[in-house]
Amino acid sequence: MNDVKVYAHRGYSSVAPENTMAAFRRAAEAGADGLELDVHLTKDGHVVVIHDYTLQRTTDGTGRVKDFTLEEIRRLDAGSWFGEEFRCERVPLLEEVLGLAADRDLYLNIELKNNQYPEPGLENRVLELTERYGWTGKTVISSFNHHSLRKVKREKPDLDTAILYMSHLFEPWEYVQRAGLSSIHPYWPTVTKEMAESCRERGLPLRPFTVNRAGEMRRLVSIGVEAIITDKVETLLEVLRDDR
Ligand code: G3P
Ligand code: MG
Repeated sequence: MNDVKVYAHRGYSSVAPENTMAAFRRAAEAGADGLELDVHLTKDGHVVVIHDYTLQRTTDGTGRVKDFTLEEIRRLDAGSWFGEEFRCERVPLLEEVLGLAADRDLYLNIELKNNQYPEPGLENRVLELTERYGWTGKTVISSFNHHSLRKVKREKPDLDTAILYMSHLFEPWEYVQRAGLSSIHPYWPTVTKEMAESCRERGLPLRPFTVNRAGEMRRLVSIGVEAIITDKVETLLEVLRDDR
């Protein structure tokens, strides 16, 4: 029997606007084990949940997240772009998602989106909040910025830290151990059976992203990944049911 975990990418983002409470709630209701979310810092140092470093794709605002205060960002509509019924959705605070995770006993994959521009202090703010909510045991901090992950690991050695990457790295299981980090979150086309075996031998969780096709999900389940990050929660749950 497989016990592959289902992480809803940006929440259940194929049925609700990404990175909103509506998307996170729908993921929990559908039966996802965990949530993936992206975080940035506001001008006044709050951790907000949004993918891009700019506002225009997923809200009715424009400009960079870091140039606005929380109060200004909270006035924006983060749902209408996806559907009129989501007009009331706001850009969530990380605290809100931590609260939901605590209520529903969900895993969290918090992605630090500081790979394009530096966001000084983001790591410590995120650590402070996950600790305040008692949510370090079921949290993984991931990032394309591996320096940032090392900072997290130095501050909190027991916390799971996952490298994100897009390309075909040579022996990523060696790299992650050399960097002193603990998990591997690769772009799905780069994942091989050999990779899954090497990770398993070393006790390194392997959680590919973002897998939306049933055939690919089946292949990854069969080679023994620990979790799959997907926009299509129901599709993955169905694949897992069929496999059991
Ligand atoms: O965590 C995996 C995935 O979220 C990384 O890419 O751009 O969707 O944040 P992106
Ligand atoms: Mg992400």
